[in-house]
Amino acid sequence: MTAENDHTGTPLTLSVRVRDLLPGDLPACTWSGSALHLRHVEKELARAVAGEVDYLAVCTPADLPVAIGGIDYQVSEGAGTLWQFAVLPALQSCGLGTLLVRAAEQRVRDRGLHRAELAVEEDNPRARALYERLGYVAYGREADAWDEEGPDGTIRRHETMCLLMRKDLLT
Ligand SMILES: CC(C)(COP(=O)(O)OP(=O)(O)OC[C@H]1O[C@@H](n2cnc3c(N)ncnc32)[C@H](O)[C@@H]1OP(=O)(O)O)[C@@H](O)C(=O)NCCC(=O)NCCS
Repeated sequence: MTAENDHTGTPLTLSVRVRDLLPGDLPACTWSGSALHLRHVEKELARAVAGEVDYLAVCTPADLPVAIGGIDYQVSEGAGTLWQFAVLPALQSCGLGTLLVRAAEQRVRDRGLHRAELAVEEDNPRARALYERLGYVAYGREADAWDEEGPDGTIRRHETMCLLMRKDLLT
């Protein structure tokens, strides 16, 4: 698979492939969040072994993850719920997020399911625009909260409002 950057400047083509994220990848994923976040991801990888979730990685030719994201099959009956999607900041806006969402949707189909869902924070308009471009439609709002670790290691509660979006994968 290929992600191309056609912004003004020297064109660059980067060959990437999508595979399952593995515990051994986590030291190379510090760009995606704090140590606390990576411990959460590690727990999700144990759930992936149990078949409850898929966790995907888009990798460079050197097999380094530059985009990661999960699909939880236990949140919503009959649907795969996309969550924790993140692209290496230096490679955002090059199409990797689009590639990862499409690969996740294929995993949902592979399980015989026909609906993908996700929640995006209301103050994240770029992510929302991406999901709308890919066919996701808003159907509600929901408050959410989770612990976040600051650069100094302190933990604080992040409270937010999310837009709930879904996509019918049959159309
Ligand atoms: C949201 C996120 C996952 C999207 O991933 P991404 O790789 O940046 O997404 P894409 O490149 O596929 O698409 C996003 C943008 O790139 C543009 N784009 C996509 N493919 C492109 C291409 N081939 N050439 C040029 N531009 C392209 C899109 O039009 C879009 O425009 P924008 O830059 O104005 O936003 C990523 O930006 C990210 O990690 N953000 C921080 C964490 C986050 O918000 N996660 C989502 C939580 S719900």
